[in-house]
Amino acid sequence: MNFQLPFTPEQASSMALEVDQLTIYLVAMTAIFTTLIGVMVIAFAVKYRQRVPSDAVGSNFENSAFLEVTWTIIPLLIVLVTFGWGLKVFFRLSRPPANAVQYYVSGKQWMWKIQHPTGQREINELHVPVGQPTELVMTSEDVIHSFFVPAFRVKQDVVPGRTSKLWFTPTKPGRYHLFCTEFCGVEHSKMIGTVVVQEPNEYQAWLAGAPAAKSTAGAGAALFAQHACNTCHLDQEGGRGPLLAGIYGMEIELADGSKVIVDEAYLRESILHPTAKVVRGYEPLMPSFQGQVTEEALVQLVRYVKSLSDTKTASHASRPATSTTRDSQGAAQ
Ligand code: CUA
Repeated sequence: MNFQLPFTPEQASSMALEVDQLTIYLVAMTAIFTTLIGVMVIAFAVKYRQRVPSDAVGSNFENSAFLEVTWTIIPLLIVLVTFGWGLKVFFRLSRPPANAVQYYVSGKQWMWKIQHPTGQREINELHVPVGQPTELVMTSEDVIHSFFVPAFRVKQDVVPGRTSKLWFTPTKPGRYHLFCTEFCGVEHSKMIGTVVVQEPNEYQAWLAGAPAAKSTAGAGAALFAQHACNTCHLDQEGGRGPLLAGIYGMEIELADGSKVIVDEAYLRESILHPTAKVVRGYEPLMPSFQGQVTEEALVQLVRYVKSLSDTKTASHASRPATSTTRDSQGAAQ
C-alpha cells in the first residue's frame, strides 16, 4: 500500500509511509462505518415508514444469540487491530534508534535555536544529512512550543522545564517546512523554519562553512568550571559529590534505596533540584542552580556530563568516538 493521501505533504522520512498507512486505515474505517450507518438510517426510515393503521400491533421480537455475538466480536476485532497498529507506530515514533545523532533545539518566542553536535548553530534552519537517524533534544526558554515537520510526519511539544525528544531519518534531499504548532503568543504564526536535507558530502561542506561556536560539551565544560562544580565532583572517587565520568546511562541507587537511570531528565533535575534524588552514600550538600543557569546552559552542562561517559566507551563504540573528536575540534575553534 505505497500511496499517498491527497492534500498531504510528500513523504520524506523513514516513518512517513507507516504514519500515512495508519491514517489511511483510520480514514477508511471511519468512512465505511459513517456510510454504512447513514445509508441504513435512510433506508430503514423509508422502508418502515408508517403505512399501516395506527392501532396495528407489532410482531413478536425474539433475541438472536448469533446476532448479539456477531456484532460484539466484529467491532472488538476492529478496535483491537486499530489499537495494536496505533501502538506499533507510536512505539516506533517514540524510540529513537541507538545510532541516532543528537541535535539540540531550544524554542523561544518566536524562533527555533538549533545546535549541531559539532557546535554549529542555526536559527530557524536545521541542516541534516540524508539517511542519518537524527534525534532532537528539545527544551523551551519560555512557553510551550511544538516542533512539527509535516513531510517527516513528526511533531512533539517543547515544554519549559522539561526535555522532550523527537527523531526522524530523512530519506530525500530537499527543503521542508518546519512549523511551531502550539499557540505561543502574537507571533506564533511567524515561528516557522526550514529543515534542509542534504547529501552527506554537501552536509560536510555546509558544516565546514557554518559558524561554529564551542561545541555543546565544550561550552558545558567551561560552565562546569565556572560554577565550581569540579570542587565536589572530582575526576576520581572521593569527592563530596558522585563521580560523574561514566555515570550517564547507568542505574544508580538513591538514598531511599530506590533506583534511577541517569538520563537527561535526571541530570537536569539534579542540577535544578539537587536534593530531590540524592545518590546513596552522599550528603544532600549541593546547592540548587535554579535561576542561575539558562536553559541553554543546562543543555550544555548535561551534554558535558554525558560526554564524560562517551570518552569512557569510545574504544568500543564508533559514534561517541567521532562525536568526541568533533567536540574537541569545535572547542578549538
Ligand atoms: Cu512557538 Cu507557536
